[in-house]
Amino acid sequence: MYICVCYGVTDSQVKHAVEQGADDLKSLQEKLQVGRQCGKCIKATIEMMEQTKDLTPNYYQVA
Ligand code: FES
Repeated sequence: MYICVCYGVTDSQVKHAVEQGADDLKSLQEKLQVGRQCGKCIKATIEMMEQTKDLTPNYYQVA
């Protein structure tokens, strides 16, 4: 599913970027350009980022 139509960014790309360490909107924008045109996707991107971070284990807390 497309999150950002302006740049053709999908939810899978956002999830992958978060899993690779992009933990804030600025980092996601640097990697994917998401939200840099009209900005309508920013709210959905942040929600997806937060959901993905909640599901991604924090290995430092586990160890
Ligand atoms: S939909 Fe993402 S910048 Fe327009």
